[in-house]
Amino acid sequence: MKLHEVSENYDSAARYYDRLTDIVFGRILKLEKYRGHTIDLLGDLDGATVLDVGCGTGRNFPLLVERVGKQGKIIGVDYSEGMLEQAQRSIRTEGWRNIELICDDAARLDRVTEPIDAVTAIWCLGIVYDLEASLNRIADLMRPGGRFATMDFEKSRPDKGLLRWLYPVYRIVLQYAGIDSPEDLDNAKLEAKWARGKGVLRERLIGLREEHYLNGAGMIIEGRKS
Ligand SMILES: C[S@@+](CC[C@H](N)C(=O)[O-])C[C@H]1O[C@@H](n2cnc3c(N)ncnc32)[C@H](O)[C@@H]1O
Repeated sequence: MKLHEVSENYDSAARYYDRLTDIVFGRILKLEKYRGHTIDLLGDLDGATVLDVGCGTGRNFPLLVERVGKQGKIIGVDYSEGMLEQAQRSIRTEGWRNIELICDDAARLDRVTEPIDAVTAIWCLGIVYDLEASLNRIADLMRPGGRFATMDFEKSRPDKGLLRWLYPVYRIVLQYAGIDSPEDLDNAKLEAKWARGKGVLRERLIGLREEHYLNGAGMIIEGRKS
């Protein structure tokens, strides 16, 4: 998704993003359960500085806040000001004091300047227009031994299962909701993009491990910096 589309699409989707995600990814596809699992792959986060790339409305924050504790810190980065406003609202409501929000491009992360102990990104990296640049910058920011865990879609259409057949409807819903661009829903392009992205991860991280969900359409990747 091009950078101007991130603002256009997500600024207007921000108000209903949580409700839509609860219904489509939570109740229908039952994928929300993998969020906590992905964050658990980051290991012990007590006192850690965690970067949440494409944090959106902050759906990871409740899980991260309890894991980093009072001495830790969460840096949430997103390019959509609308999504960040929703995240800020939750921070105010919950009274969280150790979350910093930064409006920045995930492919550059120029405004993240401190070393990072752990990085997560949920359903974001696959839509970043330059995935390879993003992963290289993430690896640069990580401290030696730092952990990385992401959950994403490697295919926009599963090879089997209900969603394979419901895919045309799912695609129309996401496009109509103004969330995904046609490019993000192109199966061949997404697979090729992640094949290149995994090449960067193999070069920059060690201990890479992959899991799959949603009949192979979704993947969770973990690794660490040597
Ligand atoms: C599907 S949402 C996921 C949000 C959140 N991680 C979650 O789990 O609900 C994708 C997020 O990635 C952000 N995003 C996409 N491309 C980006 C980019 N190049 N730089 C920063 N954020 C980006 C969008 O603004 C959006 O908030």
